[in-house]
Amino acid sequence: MSPLFIANWKMQLSDVASVALAQEARALAHDAVTLVLCPSFNALADVAVAIAGSDIALGAQDCAWEERGALTGEVSPEDLKQLGCTYVLVGHSERRRELGETDALVGKKLRAACAAGLMPVLCVGEDAAERAAGKRGAVIARQCSAGFDAVADLRPSEILVAYEPVWAIGTGVSAAPEDAAAAAVSIAALAASHDIHARVLYGGSVDADSVGAFMARKEIAGVLVGTASQTATGLRDMIVALQAVT
Ligand code: 13P
Repeated sequence: MSPLFIANWKMQLSDVASVALAQEARALAHDAVTLVLCPSFNALADVAVAIAGSDIALGAQDCAWEERGALTGEVSPEDLKQLGCTYVLVGHSERRRELGETDALVGKKLRAACAAGLMPVLCVGEDAAERAAGKRGAVIARQCSAGFDAVADLRPSEILVAYEPVWAIGTGVSAAPEDAAAAAVSIAALAASHDIHARVLYGGSVDADSVGAFMARKEIAGVLVGTASQTATGLRDMIVALQAVT
């Protein structure tokens, strides 16, 4: 299975810039890498057009926890599917931290995403204080369990979990690949105990120099990348680096 490279463009790019980068990605895309672009909501429709007919997949950065309802400002997972999304991030630490998203809410989003037929990417990871207190395992287990409990009865064939330590996001300091691999093992085991097959990604300051070390770990199925995916040069270097390790 080719490594998964999910590009999270966060709120960094306008619609025009997102389309331009998607066109670059299209020119660079390679069989050796499964590339998923996650532009902001406003750019999803135009990026869908830019990658139509290619092997590049579209993902959203979040979704609502209900299929439909009086939820001002929210975006239905059903509508994301209609727009051409096949993936959706849920529980990104920026949303947990900045918007107060709880494990319970993230679990409901995970459920809504699965019910809509989207491939969810459940984002988990400890912050710097939790890391310093030796709570990494406990935090990951709590976040994952809340998600897995919420979807177990839907029997999803597979879900993706991104281990993204908060202290590694946007800092230029990534986790050690052996620590990320250890987290991936415990996440996969916890998922299996819920009868769920999880593939685990690593995210947090991954770049073209570090991606090879993460992909060398068989426990890690791919990477979720912010900064290094948000420019044409960064994307190209990442794709070249991933091709070299497959
Ligand atoms: P960076 O790659 O910029 O650290 O961001 C990681 C991330 O948050 C991806 O979701």
